[in-house]
Amino acid sequence: MAEFKLPVHSIVKQGHTVNYATGQQIRCVYIYRWNPEHNDNPYLDRYEVDIEQTGIMVLDVLLYIKNAIDPTLTFRRSCREGVCGSCAMNINGRNTLACIKPVTDLQGDLRIYPLPHLPVIKDLVVDLSHFYAQQAATQPWLKSQTPAPPDHERLQSKTERAKLDGLYECILCACCSTSCPSYWWNSERYLGPATLLQNYRWVIDSRDEATGERLDMVEDAFRLYRCHTIMNCTQACPKGLNPAKAITQLKQLLVKRKS
Ligand code: SF4
Ligand code: SF4
Ligand code: FES
Repeated sequence: MAEFKLPVHSIVKQGHTVNYATGQQIRCVYIYRWNPEHNDNPYLDRYEVDIEQTGIMVLDVLLYIKNAIDPTLTFRRSCREGVCGSCAMNINGRNTLACIKPVTDLQGDLRIYPLPHLPVIKDLVVDLSHFYAQQAATQPWLKSQTPAPPDHERLQSKTERAKLDGLYECILCACCSTSCPSYWWNSERYLGPATLLQNYRWVIDSRDEATGERLDMVEDAFRLYRCHTIMNCTQACPKGLNPAKAITQLKQLLVKRKS
C-alpha cells in the first residue's frame, strides 16, 4: 500500500480532515447507537465535528453533537468534573470518564461505546442495577456497636486516617469492574474490583467494628478469588486508584486470619 507523510507545516493532522471552504479541523466521531423502541440492531453513527466549536473534553463533543446535530443521542452526565461517575464509557478502547478525557489525548477518529459487558438501555446508557446491588451488599457504611461519643465525632489517628487514602475517593463509575475479564464472565458471582475496593475500605477503617463479618462476606471462591490479578482494573481507573492492590490486601488479611 502506498504511504505518504504530511508536510511538517500541513494544516491537516492525522485523524483529522479539513473543510477547505472554511479551514476547519474536522474530527470523525463514531458512536454506538441502539434504541430499544426501534426494532433494529445496534449500529455506529458517524458525525463530523469541528473541534474548534466544542469544549476540550470528549463530553463537550458529545454535548455539541446532541445540541447542534442530533438531539436523539443519549448518554449520562452530571457534574462535568470527574466526581459523579455518570459519564463513564468506552472511548477509543478504554473505559474512562468522558468529562475528563481531553480530545487531544486521542489519536485519529473518536470511537465511543457504552461500558462493556453490561446490558445497554439506550445508546451509551448502560444498566448498572446489578453493579449497585453488589455495592449495597457490601453495606458501605460505618458499623459499630460502640455508641458514638455524645459531644464529638469518632476519632482516628492521622495514621489510621491515612489508610483510607486511595480508597475513599472511589466514585463508583464502574470503569474498573467493566474492564475486568473475570467480571465479564462471572459478574453474577464475582463481586468485581469496585465492590471489593469498597469492602476493603471499610475493613481497614479503624472505627468500623464489622471487620470479621466483612471478611466473611468476601471469603468465597467466586466473590473474591475470581480475581486473577490481571490488573485491567487499575489501568482503567480514571481516579488513579488501585483496586487490584486492595483485592490483594483482602486476600492477605484472609490468609492472616487463618494462621
Ligand atoms: S486484578 Fe482482578 S479485579 Fe482487577 S482486572 Fe484483574 S482480575 Fe479483574
Ligand atoms: S475504583 Fe476507580 S474505576 Fe473503579 S469504580 Fe472506583 S473510581 Fe471507578
Ligand atoms: S459528568 Fe460526572 S464524572 Fe463525568
